[in-house]
Amino acid sequence: MHTFSFFIVLLIFIFFNVVTATQSQQSLSPPPPHGKSHHGHHGHHRCNAAKFFGYVRTSPTAFLNNQTELINEFLHAHNWVRSEYKLPALKWDENLASFARKYLMERYNDCKLVHSTANYGENMFWGKKLHWTPSDAVYYWYKEKTWYSFETLKCEPPPKMCEHFTQIVWRDSTHVGCALQHCKNNGTGMLIACEYNPAGNYVNENPLVHAAK
Ligand SMILES: *[C@@H]1O[C@H](CO)[C@@H](O)[C@H](O)[C@H]1NC(C)=O
Ligand SMILES: *[C@@H]1O[C@H](CO)[C@@H](O)[C@H](O)[C@H]1NC(C)=O
Repeated sequence: MHTFSFFIVLLIFIFFNVVTATQSQQSLSPPPPHGKSHHGHHGHHRCNAAKFFGYVRTSPTAFLNNQTELINEFLHAHNWVRSEYKLPALKWDENLASFARKYLMERYNDCKLVHSTANYGENMFWGKKLHWTPSDAVYYWYKEKTWYSFETLKCEPPPKMCEHFTQIVWRDSTHVGCALQHCKNNGTGMLIACEYNPAGNYVNENPLVHAAK
């Protein structure tokens, strides 16, 4: 119920070795779309998350220098996931995107995976290498579904996290805006942030169901 609801800060911190470990767990995931298997995307190779979501870029780094491409890719990945749960599509909100860009600029020097103090839902992703894409971030958040039960509304076993996933499939969130940034020193990596409004992740509420008013 809403009375005990509070905003849960979302955080993901992916070290390179954890990333590869996660990728090798892909056989645990549900079948990808189009009946294609994911075999061959394990080990030190990145999963082709854009392909998983059926997204075709106009160029490999289109989202880096074309804001329309960045918006299209983030929206496509989010709404692919939401359509899996028959949820209404998220709409892009330029104010949220602008907030995400400004906030990541504050993190430009330290590249730290630290949350903003905004009252939005906020998913963040850090990668040491610079090759991570909008689809990659959403894919890793989506993969948390492995640990989430819609029956018990629990994420198990500890210390698994599911809040990025539950924010993406939060029915009452209607708008999203994201940013992606390489940090000052290339060696410190890159950050991705998505802001959601209204914020999701109220305790003891089913993400897929309208909140009790
Ligand atoms: C940016 O991407 C969009 C969508 O693919 C495209 O229509 C537009 O021409 C691109 N803009 C530039 C400057 O390349
Ligand atoms: C950082 O990486 C980009 C390519 O992603 C490159 O263009 C740039 O020169 C690099 N900067 C430094 C300081 O190495």
